Amino acid sequence: MGSGQNQSVSAPRSRILGTGHYVPSRVLTNRDLERMVDTSDAWIMERTGIRERRIAAPEEASSDMAAEAARRAIEAAGIQPTDLDLIIVATVTPDKPLPATAVYVQQKIGARSDCPAFDIAAACAGFIYGLSIADRFVGSGGARHVLVVGVELLSRVLNWKDRTTCVLFGDGAGAAVVSSVTSNGSGIFSTHLYADGTQANSLQIPAGGSHMPASQLTIDEGRHFVHMAGQDVFKYAVRALASASLTALEQNGFAREDIQWVVPHQANMRILDAVAKRVGIELDRFVLNLERYGNTSSASIPIALDEARRAGTIKDGDHVLMCALGGGFAWGSALVRF
Ligand code: ACO
Repeated sequence: MGSGQNQSVSAPRSRILGTGHYVPSRVLTNRDLERMVDTSDAWIMERTGIRERRIAAPEEASSDMAAEAARRAIEAAGIQPTDLDLIIVATVTPDKPLPATAVYVQQKIGARSDCPAFDIAAACAGFIYGLSIADRFVGSGGARHVLVVGVELLSRVLNWKDRTTCVLFGDGAGAAVVSSVTSNGSGIFSTHLYADGTQANSLQIPAGGSHMPASQLTIDEGRHFVHMAGQDVFKYAVRALASASLTALEQNGFAREDIQWVVPHQANMRILDAVAKRVGIELDRFVLNLERYGNTSSASIPIALDEARRAGTIKDGDHVLMCALGGGFAWGSALVRF
């Protein structure tokens, strides 16, 4: 694994001023899935740690969920939507291939109509990538307040007849407002981004893009759904997540005891168990909500962050390590003080 694109470590230039999240109200349990495919609650719990996930309503689009999470983050940050200087939406389930989902979010939350807005596609690592871009914009003086949203409506791109994928994922959105630092010591210490295109086909939606445009054949063959080589993802994820996490600690001169909470991408309990062992931080210091939401890809870290902030689990002054890996493979880590 290469060294990736690492931020030089210095005093924080930006901080997470507020967080928010939104999940659809409809709950799909493992028991429900037992009636849809040949699976069992026991198999899913044992292999993944997921008990239920949320499914968006038919009229909901990714931008609707993103906007709701964004409103809550903006309110928590104590700013107005018109204060935003940049909107970044991380998603692999955009409203449409064109234009960016971020422009719909701009309109739905009432941000300025000249506020730059774009999407990034880094799959489950999307929020970490977005956080890194936001940190650099704020740090360079290019923006004062940046909205970063992770949103996925994966239920629309899953093959509900394929038990190897449909049990794993869920819908949701999480958001953070990244703003310039104040003097209270909180901030983003560093972000570390990586990608390995040799693994591009391990987790993909094969059709619907320029490589294989949508056709009757691609639909008949289910090529517009998520396809995944689960065991390849599993093995790579453990190594990459642990390595990126250790890099974040080392480059900041942090010991494991300096970290109050790890907020990992929520994909699979067995992956997280193995990562915890490799990194040397007990699982009881991991913020976990995988059991209730499944894998919500780019939304999983900001949903977990927001739940932990609002519950008072992550307190002001706490050091939080984040790490994520997803399709690409793209992965990364971030070290933040709240
Ligand atoms: N219910 C029951 N049986 C199942 C199911 C299911 N939902 N899915 C697969 N099986 C069966 C398989 O068909 C296979 O049967 P066989 O032995 O008769 O052939 C058996 O269970 C074992 O299958 P494996 O693929 O070997 O199961 P494994 O223990 O590897 O677990 C899983 C599969 C959960 C997908 C695992 O590989 C995994 O979690 N990988 C990581 C994938 C992931 O999290 N991706 C998310 C995106 S990337 C990220 O976020 C990190």
